[in-house]
Amino acid sequence: MTAYEELWRARFGTDAPDGPADEDLQRLTGFLSRRSCRAFKSDPIDEPLLASLLACAQSAPSKSDLQQYSIVVIDDAAIRAAMQEWSSFDPWIAEAPLFLVFCGDLRRQRRIAALRGYEHRNDNMDAFMNTAVDAGIALATFVAAAEAVGLGCCPISVVRNHIEEACALLGLPDGVYPVAGLALGWPARQGYVSMRLPPAAVIHRNRYDDDGFEATIDGYDRARHAVYAIPPEKQRHRDKYGTADICTWSENAARQESLPERDGFRAFLLKHGFALD
Ligand SMILES: Cc1cc2nc3c(=O)[nH]c(=O)nc-3n(C[C@H](O)[C@H](O)[C@H](O)COP(=O)(O)O)c2cc1C
Repeated sequence: MTAYEELWRARFGTDAPDGPADEDLQRLTGFLSRRSCRAFKSDPIDEPLLASLLACAQSAPSKSDLQQYSIVVIDDAAIRAAMQEWSSFDPWIAEAPLFLVFCGDLRRQRRIAALRGYEHRNDNMDAFMNTAVDAGIALATFVAAAEAVGLGCCPISVVRNHIEEACALLGLPDGVYPVAGLALGWPARQGYVSMRLPPAAVIHRNRYDDDGFEATIDGYDRARHAVYAIPPEKQRHRDKYGTADICTWSENAARQESLPERDGFRAFLLKHGFALD
């Protein structure tokens, strides 16, 4: 197998189509083999490197160049310990050398409007989405930069499970909300490549097309299960649906989405300075 065929098989569980030129593949290998890291050495990340990774995150594209996000870098052990209380599943919140929280930020733009003597009249769903997208792209760019220098990352959504406490702990004012946390450190153990949906389910040419959906999902479930069988403790909502002998990716995803998660988020946003008109 060529290097590309191996990368492709690990990512999609299928034979690879034609690959890119060797010099392109060299540059893409890190992206194609990327994985979240959930075990970190205690070695610190030096400040110049951290500053450069944050500069990479700030180099990401942003809607209208408005840059409607903020990043909180947390090295205070007491704050980390308080956040760790929210999740026994993600011990790396406190254990990783650094923890960052990527936030959507409408506040700065509001203040800029006031500073320049204008009304700020973009407080609708679109404005909210722009803040979330900007924060997400900054997070993804930070991850790509960190992984390019050998660091490991794991995004953490639990900060939104305890959103009021997170805002109080991090001093997030109205108009600013956490999108996701990010554990960062030098990997103690490499993660595993998590198989993705077949490109046919995700990539569309010219027009959206989900013909063959059922067969595509079935094929993905089978390929994924052959590599990694979801153990009972990772099956979602076993109290409601029981333990499946074979719990496929789609079974688990459907179980997860069958019960509302964080359904107080809209109320939180309305209370914290978003109109969502
Ligand atoms: C917004 C966001 C939140 C996430 N939250 C968590 C989390 O709370 N705990 C965790 O272990 N992984 C979390 N992840 C990581 C995903 O589980 C992971 O990306 C996915 O399983 C695919 O695996 P991979 O990143 O290794 O390819 C999160 C990822 C994103 C993008």
